[in-house]
Amino acid sequence: MMHVQKTEPMLSSLKGFFWLSLFELLYSSSGIFSQEITNISAREGDEARLPCGYKISEGKTLESYYIYWQKPISGKPDLVVISYKHGKESESEKDILYKNRTKMDKHNLTLSISPVKLSDTGIYKCIAILKNYEGEGAANLSVIAPFSKPIIKYNSSRNLCDPTELTLSCVSHGGSSWPKMYGFVNNKAVHWTSVVAYNNDSKLFNITGTLQLNVTENMLVQCSVGFSDFQVSTNDSLNMTMECSKPTLPPWTSPPFGIIISSSVILIFLLVVIMLVTHLYYFRNRPRPSTTHQPLATDEMVLQDLSNGQTPSGLRRSPL
Ligand SMILES: *[C@@H]1O[C@H](CO)[C@@H](O)[C@H](O)[C@H]1NC(C)=O
Ligand SMILES: *[C@@H]1O[C@H](CO)[C@@H](O)[C@H](O)[C@H]1NC(C)=O
Ligand SMILES: *[C@@H]1O[C@H](CO)[C@@H](O)[C@H](O)[C@H]1NC(C)=O
Ligand SMILES: *[C@@H]1O[C@H](CO)[C@@H](O)[C@H](O)[C@H]1NC(C)=O
Ligand SMILES: *[C@@H]1O[C@H](CO)[C@@H](O)[C@H](O)[C@H]1NC(C)=O
Ligand SMILES: *[C@@H]1O[C@H](CO)[C@@H](O)[C@H](O)[C@H]1NC(C)=O
Ligand SMILES: *[C@@H]1O[C@H](CO)[C@@H](O)[C@H](O)[C@H]1NC(C)=O
Ligand SMILES: *[C@@H]1O[C@H](CO)[C@@H](O)[C@H](O)[C@H]1NC(C)=O
Ligand SMILES: *[C@@H]1O[C@H](CO)[C@@H](O)[C@H](O)[C@H]1NC(C)=O
Ligand SMILES: *[C@@H]1O[C@H](CO)[C@@H](O)[C@H](O)[C@H]1NC(C)=O
Repeated sequence: MMHVQKTEPMLSSLKGFFWLSLFELLYSSSGIFSQEITNISAREGDEARLPCGYKISEGKTLESYYIYWQKPISGKPDLVVISYKHGKESESEKDILYKNRTKMDKHNLTLSISPVKLSDTGIYKCIAILKNYEGEGAANLSVIAPFSKPIIKYNSSRNLCDPTELTLSCVSHGGSSWPKMYGFVNNKAVHWTSVVAYNNDSKLFNITGTLQLNVTENMLVQCSVGFSDFQVSTNDSLNMTMECSKPTLPPWTSPPFGIIISSSVILIFLLVVIMLVTHLYYFRNRPRPSTTHQPLATDEMVLQDLSNGQTPSGLRRSPL
């Protein structure tokens, strides 16, 4: 509804306008508007620019007009967002909520609200009055709390020595419209499996995505969150690095040295064992001084005797 002051000079014409406005409001509440409404989205804190559908008639200037940008509020008179009378802004009529935050372009009547607040969301009408009601336009403003810049996390360090399968996560929070997560790895689209959380009290969303990734080369990872007409995104790099020293451990414990040392130990041990065995063997089969007591022949003695071309002693050969 039009904000009407009693001291208004053009009272008769405004009275007519008042009824017209009321008539329109009845229709607008059932969704019928004279013009198409321009949808505008803006991020909280940014500048919102709302175009006025109405154009100043040919040959006329702003000086001839009263212009009102108003925000209808159900059950209350419209809030005056900005008003111009005969080419001059009428500060006194402006609602306190919009003090110091609104401007209007004098040529195309575009309204600017900066910084825009979440509570500014709604329908705005611009109304042009010449002698009588001339026309109006409307814009539908959605103010959106932006999501935070995504944070990418890995379940390992960002410098990798070997090809690894990693779990990546990407987190963004605090937005006021439904988010969608998407991204790229080395400029190739990837699918982040995402979960959206909603807080009933703050009316804000969070989104958390995860991605399994086999890292075999240097990778540029991108995570973006789209909400309404906006997006926030983060780039990050995962590098396969050549410098994989472990500074807390001395170098001789790292794999190449460790293997050399442990294999040397095993080799020396084996050598000692072999030498010991040969030694024992030699002592056992050493020619012994002859004794009266002939020991039982062993297979070894048989073999030895055979190699000497003698009949094995103490062994009876069965014929055939
Ligand atoms: C504005 O948004 C509403 C709801 O999303 C939609 O129905 C309408 O068609 C949009 N208007 C324009 C001009 O795009
Ligand atoms: C209105 O004019 C301003 C500059 O005078 C321009 O930046 C803006 O895009 C115009 N808006 C429309 C809706 O034409
Ligand atoms: C608007 O700005 C003026 C001057 O900068 C300041 O004195 C006044 O308090 C401001 N009003 C509001 C509502 O912020
Ligand atoms: C205004 O925009 C909001 C958000 O896009 C939408 O839900 C609503 O239907 C729109 N209203 C009109 C009258 O287009
Ligand atoms: C990271 O996650 C992947 C797959 O979920 C797993 O194979 C790998 O062992 C994990 N790495 C670390 C350092 O926890
Ligand atoms: C969203 O994230 C913020 C910051 O991490 C946290 O304080 C809040 O509780 C989360 N909200 C939901 C619904 O998970
Ligand atoms: C959130 O609010 C909606 C309606 O406002 C209600 O249906 C729903 O149960 C609430 N959810 C929680 C978790 O409180
Ligand atoms: C990673 O590589 C392993 C072994 O080649 C394979 O089983 C797994 O599916 C791969 N994971 C992804 C996310 O490509
Ligand atoms: C991330 O990288 C892509 C492709 O290299 C680039 O187009 C984009 O601007 C970068 N985004 C940020 C936030 O650095
Ligand atoms: C990975 O390498 C790129 C350039 O090759 C560099 O900009 C980036 O800082 C490196 N990242 C890490 C974690 O070392």
